[in-house]
Amino acid sequence: MLRCRVPMPAMVTLLLLQALAMVLFLGWYSHFVPQDSSPSQGKVHVLLLSSWRSGSSFLGQVFSQHPSVFYLMEPAWHVWTTLQRPGARGLRMAVRDLVRSVFHCDLSVMDAYMPPNYNVSQVFMWSHSRALCSPPACPLTPRDQISVEPECKLHCDRMGLQLAEEACHSYSHVVLKEVRFFELESLYPLLKDPKLDLRIIHLVRDPRAVLRSREQAAKALARDSALVLEQEGTMPPDAQQRVMQEVCRSHLRIHETAMLKSPDFLRGRYKLVRYEDLVKNPLTEIENMYNFVGLEMTETLQEWIYRITHGKGKGTKKEAFKITSRNAEDVSLAWRTSLPYEKVRQIQEVCKGAMSLMGYHPVESEMEQKQIEADLTSQKKHYEFSWLPSKSTRSTKAG
Ligand SMILES: *[C@@H]1O[C@H](CO)[C@@H](O)[C@H](O)[C@H]1NC(C)=O
Repeated sequence: MLRCRVPMPAMVTLLLLQALAMVLFLGWYSHFVPQDSSPSQGKVHVLLLSSWRSGSSFLGQVFSQHPSVFYLMEPAWHVWTTLQRPGARGLRMAVRDLVRSVFHCDLSVMDAYMPPNYNVSQVFMWSHSRALCSPPACPLTPRDQISVEPECKLHCDRMGLQLAEEACHSYSHVVLKEVRFFELESLYPLLKDPKLDLRIIHLVRDPRAVLRSREQAAKALARDSALVLEQEGTMPPDAQQRVMQEVCRSHLRIHETAMLKSPDFLRGRYKLVRYEDLVKNPLTEIENMYNFVGLEMTETLQEWIYRITHGKGKGTKKEAFKITSRNAEDVSLAWRTSLPYEKVRQIQEVCKGAMSLMGYHPVESEMEQKQIEADLTSQKKHYEFSWLPSKSTRSTKAG
C-alpha cells in the first residue's frame, strides 16, 4: 500500500483549486457558447420580403427599433446599383449570397460594392438602423431607446465596418429588409443552412395603392424598374404597369410556393402580412410578428408605434424614402380618390391573381372606387397568413 505523503491541508487546497478552476472554466465556456445548443446558437434571422412602396420601410423600422435587433435596410441595393447589367434574374444569386453573409454578420461581403476606404455612411440607408446608432457601433442611442435618424447620421459614421460587424454579433436577431427577391427558391440554401434560423415575413399591399405611390416616386424608382423589366434605354410608356405585373406575379409565386407547395424546410418559417391589416391594427399585427420571430414587445416600443401610426402629414415626393409620422390608414386609402379609374381597371387586370389570393376586391366602376367607406380588403380570417401544419388542412383550405 502506498502511504499518502502529501499532508492533509495541501491536499484540501489542491482540491479546492481544482474545483475553482472548473467553475471558472465553465463560466468562461458558457459565456462563449450560448445555452441554446442549436447550430444557429439561438440567433434568429428574419427576412422582411416585400416590394417597392408597400410599407416595408415602416415595417423595417418596427424591427430596427427593437432592442434585440440588428437591422439593415435593403443591403442588396448595393448589388443592383453596382452590377446593374444583367437584370433582376441575373442578379438574384449575388443578392442571395450577400443576404446570407450579412445574416452571418460577415460584412466583408460589402467590399465588392464599396469605394476604397469606405465608411459606415457608404452603406445604403445605414442611419435607419438603430443598431448602427447604438453601442458598440456608436455611443449615441442606448440600445433600448428609439433612435432619431438625423442625429444618428450626424454622429455615428465610422471608418470601415468592423464596429458594425461587432454590433451585429451582439444581437439575438438579425433582420434584413429586401424588395429584390421575386421568388423563394434562391433562398432555399439559406433555409437549409443549419447555422441560420431563417424566418420570412412577406409584406404585401393593395397593388392599386402601390401604383399610386409608385407614380409619386417614379423618378426615384426608374433604375430599379429597368432592372425588373430587364430593359435598357428609354422605358416603354406602359412601364409602370408592366413592373406592377412582375411584382404581382412575384407575390403570387412566393405565396404559392410557401403555402401550397411548401417544402419541409419552409414549414413554420413563412408569414404573410398585409399592409392594410398592419395599419388598421398596428399593435396586434406587430405583436403577432414579434411572436413569430421570438421578440418581446416593450413599453417603449408600444408608445413609439402609437406615435408613428397616429402622426400628422401625408406622404409627399420629397420624403419618398423617409419614414415619417403620418396617419397610415389615410395614406393607404389615397388611391381611392386620386388614381384615375382607367388605371385602376388596368392594374386590377394585370394583378387579378395576386389580388384575389390576397383578398383585395376589385372595383367595377369609378363610383365604387370613390366610395371610400366601402372596405375592399377581405376580412383577415378568410385568408391564411402563416403556414398550416398538417397536409389535410392544407389541401382543404387551398382548394
Ligand atoms: C471615410 O472617412 C475618412 C475620415 O473621415 C475620410 O478621410 C474618407 O474620405 C472617407 N471615405 C470615403 C470613401 O468617403
